[in-house]
Amino acid sequence: MNKQFKRTTVTSALPYANGPVHIGHLAGVYVPADIYVRYLRLKGRPVLFIGGSDEHGVPVTIRARKEGISVQQVVDRYHTLIKDSFEKFGISFDIYSRTTSATHHKLASDFFRKLYDEGKFVEKVSEQFYDEQTQHFLTDRNIRGECPRCHAADAYGDQCEKCGATLSPEELINPYNAETGNPLVRKATKHWYLPLDQYQNWLEHWILDEHKEWRPNVYGQCKSWLDSGLHPRAVTRDLDWGIPVPVEGAEGKVLYVWFDAPIGYISNTKELCDAHPELGSWETWWKDPDTRLVHFIGKDNIVFHCIVFPAMLKAHGDYILPDNVPSNEFLNLEGNKISTSKNYAVWLHEYLQEIPGRQDELRYVLTANAPETKDNDFTWADYQARCNNELVAVYGNFVNRALQLTQKYYDGVVPECGELTDFDSATFGEFAGIKMRLEELLENFKFRDAQKEAMNLARIGNKYIADSEPWKLIKTDPERVKTIIYISLQLTANLAIAFEPFLPFSSKRLRNMIGMEQFNWEQLGS
Ligand code: MF3
Ligand code: ZN
Repeated sequence: MNKQFKRTTVTSALPYANGPVHIGHLAGVYVPADIYVRYLRLKGRPVLFIGGSDEHGVPVTIRARKEGISVQQVVDRYHTLIKDSFEKFGISFDIYSRTTSATHHKLASDFFRKLYDEGKFVEKVSEQFYDEQTQHFLTDRNIRGECPRCHAADAYGDQCEKCGATLSPEELINPYNAETGNPLVRKATKHWYLPLDQYQNWLEHWILDEHKEWRPNVYGQCKSWLDSGLHPRAVTRDLDWGIPVPVEGAEGKVLYVWFDAPIGYISNTKELCDAHPELGSWETWWKDPDTRLVHFIGKDNIVFHCIVFPAMLKAHGDYILPDNVPSNEFLNLEGNKISTSKNYAVWLHEYLQEIPGRQDELRYVLTANAPETKDNDFTWADYQARCNNELVAVYGNFVNRALQLTQKYYDGVVPECGELTDFDSATFGEFAGIKMRLEELLENFKFRDAQKEAMNLARIGNKYIADSEPWKLIKTDPERVKTIIYISLQLTANLAIAFEPFLPFSSKRLRNMIGMEQFNWEQLGS
């Protein structure tokens, strides 16, 4: 980063409100985003952390039909559950709102209308499958029919599960509505397209030349999309759940969920700033070139955040573009793919119920094992090993020794610091080095390595106590012991600060134990 920004707007992907959130969400997006935001706050840098639920799209409507309740009931239920899980895991959003909010409907609608009025869309009529009885256009996945290759009776509009063929719905013989069984006809329908091909050159320059610093997985995915050539993308759908297309004659059409959802970041910022004037105008956080915009996402969201949304922002013209899009790969669970539809996951709300009060343990393990550069595997054996061998044996052990010695020798009162030996000064020097490396890693979104570096503080602390042997000196040189304990407590305070972004609950407990009320990043390393 060459440019000095005045403030940072941090967003994290808006999860679909079609089910609860699981450890994959936490590891891929929310813990890293939270670490970053907590770090910036400790540094005293102005930052907003924006979150919310993505409540439109087809998945929520499918869930509603499956459960026999209204779509509104589905999104209400999961929005509440997701919001609560994030709160309990210490994901410190400044706002967690939702795309069904009135603010969002208006902002997304106005955004579309501006592009429409300025002729930024291409209108196209195409034939789509239609159920005349229910009067619905269908999405590929909801269309079934006879496979043209193997003649299985129930291939999907996009794939035959029997022979594995990739299909498009027009190829199916006797297509029918997967839910009602009704036969389908083809019917003309008009949609609006964002002509991404017109943004190809601009995107190539902006990403491939100007953002070489993006993570290799992100940069690589962008490059391969760009290399294969961009095409116009429909930004409207025939659906009855979503934000109505604000154009005459577009009844029964809504904005495509991937058009409205990222605008949700802006709407939620507006909702926050309107309620808290002390934060300044929402527009400062989205339009001032001195604001740095950072999107935390999972790898399946890369194209939308690096290509589609920036093209929308560019077409609109008033907004800043993301400066970085740190995206993680996927986290697997005990060797298998996590799946919401197959109900294979460690759900956050269940973890909270079954192992209450252990949020930091999960945060720690997910960061230690974060899928930053490649897919990674979560196993309970690894969870157990890291809790025991690192959190307890290194961090816990050091804190326990420092506090117990203070209690034992000085009744819990911090002793005076005497003259420093070379060993003491070298220890402080190591701390300062850790602070520098920690900053460098955090600024570059390398959270796994950053957490490892923070843990080194506790390792140094353990070594310091072990090597200086206060339990021997207490008889021969009690003055020296004062300094040793003073320094150990200083190290404990350092630990509380360095771990605040990673293990916020433990840091808070630690600060309470040592009576540390005020704290900031600059205290680290001294
Ligand atoms: N709901 C999407 C998902 O879970 C993410 C939406 S991110 C936003 O994959 F940009 F659209 F908000
Ligand atoms: Zn087939």
